[in-house]
Amino acid sequence: MRILGIESTAHTIGVGIAVEEAPYIVANVKSTYIPEKGGIHPRESSRYLAEKAPEVLREALKRAGLSMDDIDAVAVALGPGLGPSLRVGATLARALAIYYGKPLIPVNHAVAHIEIGLITTGARDPVAVYLSGGNTAVIAHHSRRYRVFGETLDIALGNLLDTFAREAGLGPPYVVNGIHVVDRCAEKGSRFVSELPYIVKGQDLSFAGLLTASLRSLRRGASLEDICYTLREIAYSMVVEVTERCISHTGKKEILVVGGVAASPYLREKMEWASKHHRASLYVVPPEYAVDNGAMIAWTGLLAYRSGVRIAVEESYIKPRWRVDEVDTPWRE
Ligand code: FE2
Repeated sequence: MRILGIESTAHTIGVGIAVEEAPYIVANVKSTYIPEKGGIHPRESSRYLAEKAPEVLREALKRAGLSMDDIDAVAVALGPGLGPSLRVGATLARALAIYYGKPLIPVNHAVAHIEIGLITTGARDPVAVYLSGGNTAVIAHHSRRYRVFGETLDIALGNLLDTFAREAGLGPPYVVNGIHVVDRCAEKGSRFVSELPYIVKGQDLSFAGLLTASLRSLRRGASLEDICYTLREIAYSMVVEVTERCISHTGKKEILVVGGVAASPYLREKMEWASKHHRASLYVVPPEYAVDNGAMIAWTGLLAYRSGVRIAVEESYIKPRWRVDEVDTPWRE
């Protein structure tokens, strides 16, 4: 069985191809929109994705040594994400499904981040910590679905780091050699800036106030290095606190970190400490599969397809707010 997967929920157009046996992923090609300056405008981003889609698709098939005739079904991330970006992948997937007569498989982007984490690390039933530019959630599987055990109430951890970096003149690019520029700058700080807030409400997190307070401290003349040092310490500690409580509640014995912010060595250090404390094993998704990619959509599509999940082309609407806990996971029964 060979499943082609298409990712286009935000700023990356990715096409991956998954198969049932090791190595599981036989192609993973992507192209990411990076604006020269400022934040990302959804319309400009989607224009970029549409422009790059044909060559990303061609390259993925070429790397796998396959043609569309060899593909059994087309999987596509229908959400959550930015409407204009989602439409690019959905349009491509529908066109391929109709033209080549292939079944279409709907995939939730957050579920895909977790599934690729499981297959690439060997974790089986973890507390998944999903950290990216647009998402921050602590998730665990329980009664037929992935359930959210804590999430951000406003902006995502990645958004906090990127926005602060941009306003402080540290980026873009935000990630250099796999390390976030805020992380790197924090290494040179040593003094804790006491006015920055730590906000965990129940099991949920809030980063917006931390961003505002950090920028205010910067304007008032506090050292950039010390602010990065404090911001990093607070933001990662908040995530670790919620993760630890989820481990305690669920009794799970594994922690899996997925998503674009998973690569942070300092976060890893903190998570290692937490996992030892709870006698759990720590898994971190490899960098190639941490960022948005088509392989994770293809692999999750394969799992879903084997369990009979399909969607008719005329019903394949995009779902910008599709939550991870709205998805049945028959392949995990
Ligand atoms: Fe993502």
